[in-house]
Amino acid sequence: MSETPVLTADRGAVRVVTVNRPDKLNALNAATLDALLAAFEAAAADPSVRCVVLTGAGPKAFVAGADIAEMNGLTAVQGRDFSLRGQKLMRRVEKMPKPVIGMINGFALGGGLELAMGCHLRIAADTAKVGQPEINLGLIPGFGGTQRLLRLAGRAATLELCLVGAPIDAARARELGIVNRVVPAAELEAETMKLAEQIANSAPLALRGVLDCVNVGGECGIEEGLEYETAQFGLMFATQDMREGTTAFLERRKPNFSGQ
Ligand code: COA
Repeated sequence: MSETPVLTADRGAVRVVTVNRPDKLNALNAATLDALLAAFEAAAADPSVRCVVLTGAGPKAFVAGADIAEMNGLTAVQGRDFSLRGQKLMRRVEKMPKPVIGMINGFALGGGLELAMGCHLRIAADTAKVGQPEINLGLIPGFGGTQRLLRLAGRAATLELCLVGAPIDAARARELGIVNRVVPAAELEAETMKLAEQIANSAPLALRGVLDCVNVGGECGIEEGLEYETAQFGLMFATQDMREGTTAFLERRKPNFSGQ
């Protein structure tokens, strides 16, 4: 059966990217990983896109993991390549020059949680479940899960999720800092779009500055990180949006950011 594994739609300046294999709970096979990478490359390059929302099709899942049927037949070398393919996508999402919000509408397991953790913000439905269940398959997370979960939620939570393999509910994920917000399932889309639109109205170069600083800061020492922040802060003074934002404040009006 032919399928379009990833759908994209624009709502104003917000691009919604949807993993579209609902019959397989949006499991990530190689074709879906490649289609997602292409969708993120396109969103990165399109100046009319100021924020991206990533979600899964259907009522049950964000993404229920890497495709187990596809992995079942892989050799060790192919398994390594599959991991690299997944890691490349998650890194691309993480390094996007515009904010990406993961809208977690159901199961985010294994590669699904790894994909969600590549996003800059995560909003979960109260019915969502997240986890790293690879241990139950005789596997370990391979799309960055051991590393991003460690940085996001710490050693104890990472070891618990990865060693025990049991999914946790959205409220627990919020307690552990894995998701930013939990909202009633019926309000997930509206709440996510409200946040996305707010971000889309912000100054794009300043948003990018924050993303770059946090990405760099997460991977270097404090001195280097502070130096990087200072350089980015200085750069903002060369933007029209900084003049517009500060002038609008002084003139008691709403700013209109152009991205210049
Ligand atoms: N890879 C491939 N197919 C998957 C999948 C995955 N990660 N997760 C679900 N599917 C498929 C199922 O095989 C099933 O396909 P079928 O109808 O052709 O048999 C379909 O999606 C529906 O899943 P099903 O298991 O029937 O739904 P459920 O509601 O009973 O259970 C889950 C939902 C999420 C608990 C269960 O699907 C599951 O445990 N999935 C695997 C999770 C996982 O281990 N992810 C990490 C992979 S590294």
